[in-house]
Amino acid sequence: MKNIYLVGFMGTGKSAVGSALARKKKWQFIDLDGLIELREKRPITDIFAKEGEAYFRRLEKKTLKEVAKEKKFVVACGGGIVIDEGNIRIMKDTGIIICLKASPGKILERVSGALHRPLLNVPNPKERIELLLKLRSPYYAKAHKCIDTSRLSIKEVVAKILKVSSGRNKKQYLKI
Ligand code: S3P
Repeated sequence: MKNIYLVGFMGTGKSAVGSALARKKKWQFIDLDGLIELREKRPITDIFAKEGEAYFRRLEKKTLKEVAKEKKFVVACGGGIVIDEGNIRIMKDTGIIICLKASPGKILERVSGALHRPLLNVPNPKERIELLLKLRSPYYAKAHKCIDTSRLSIKEVVAKILKVSSGRNKKQYLKI
């Protein structure tokens, strides 16, 4: 297998799970948003505010294409990466896609206080979370496997991913 891509809504644990998973597998961990910020030398909020979301999505795709050339990478993707069919194709062609999920309440709890998520910097973030989850659920469903992290520890989520991404399961997922 080449890479493991972690997708899913903001606050579902992609970065925390991704780095723990990479440590366990002795693979490289990369946070796609982190890489974009490094390249752009500014935070995502700044990119959204000054250049707009469409510009950010172009950067996201370009960065994904680069990372997809690697092998044995655990890649934590931004929550909106799945809305582009081309991005799903790139990830499926170069690895396995695991979608992390959580309830809107849990997401709110995990993201509250964090101001670095421009899409949730609105007067009613709970409403925004529910709306975006509804709009994005058909896209998240395209992942090879979905895991609800609401009641699981990082260790438990990692164990589940290790199970689906190894042995016989791996072959089955890579056919999709
Ligand atoms: C976004 C999620 C963010 C980041 C950007 C847009 C989204 O990443 O890519 O703010 O559209 O859901 P995280 O999911 O890592 O917070």
